[in-house]
Amino acid sequence: DRTAKEEIDARRRLAERIAKEAGARARRFLHRPETLHAVEKSSSQDLVSAADQATEAYLGRMIRRHFPQDGIVGEEAGRAEGASAFDWVIDPIDGTMAFLVGQPNWTVSIAVLHHGEPVIGVVYAPMLRELYVARQRQGAYLNGKRLMMRADWTIRSTTIGYGGTERADPQEVGAFITRLYQDGGVIFRVGSGALMLAYVAANRLAGYYDPTLYCWDCLAGVVLIREAGGLADFAGTLSAPGPIWAGNHTVFTDLKRLSKASTAP
Ligand code: IPD
Ligand code: CA
Ligand code: CA
Ligand code: CA
Repeated sequence: DRTAKEEIDARRRLAERIAKEAGARARRFLHRPETLHAVEKSSSQDLVSAADQATEAYLGRMIRRHFPQDGIVGEEAGRAEGASAFDWVIDPIDGTMAFLVGQPNWTVSIAVLHHGEPVIGVVYAPMLRELYVARQRQGAYLNGKRLMMRADWTIRSTTIGYGGTERADPQEVGAFITRLYQDGGVIFRVGSGALMLAYVAANRLAGYYDPTLYCWDCLAGVVLIREAGGLADFAGTLSAPGPIWAGNHTVFTDLKRLSKASTAP
């Protein structure tokens, strides 16, 4: 019988491999835009294309082939309960809008949970040629280089990733941004929440806040940030979106305060 450690490592290797292949497959759709067939889901800002569906189907096939007992939660295909202690949480293209309009800021995001706890995070940005990998207690890496978050940064040290979408309450968006700017912070945003969380782990952003993120957008980033020495707290579940705060201790604490203040009556 394989130990839990070996079981986790085997999944980490598969996650890396299929994230890269999924990214290559999604990229190929960009060469043939007539095959993308993008349609609206919940709003004009929320789209799904044939590339999202084909890429998620590929990831699901590979996971079931190698670990048929594991559960899978995916953005487009939904949830398949498993019989093992492992669940895969996958977003085939995080940043569909960026992908469809030709921005390079989209990613494949894969997290693996063991007894509900995120233990593996892989975020791959094909156009940027960046592979972020983290494994619980073994550190976070960008293209093989160890990541370690700066402990001395504040919300004023560099920009703060903010993910508020059309799902968010417009009043709260305004209130949070106003309070952040009053404290000397500035927001940064690209189309992929997973990429912005990876940027926090890589000291490219001082922190990240999103009022309504889904598990498949953020659980890989949560592992990356924790393994790079930071704090990340996701208050959603595997089925419902929720807020996420991330940063070093100082930034994390400040973002929690600023977001709570912005929602107070
Ligand atoms: C979206 C991205 C975006 C975030 C949205 C997500 P999608 O994911 O992560 O950064 O702000 O909340 O829905 O739909 O492009 O996979
Ligand atoms: Ca989507
Ligand atoms: Ca997403
Ligand atoms: Ca997606």
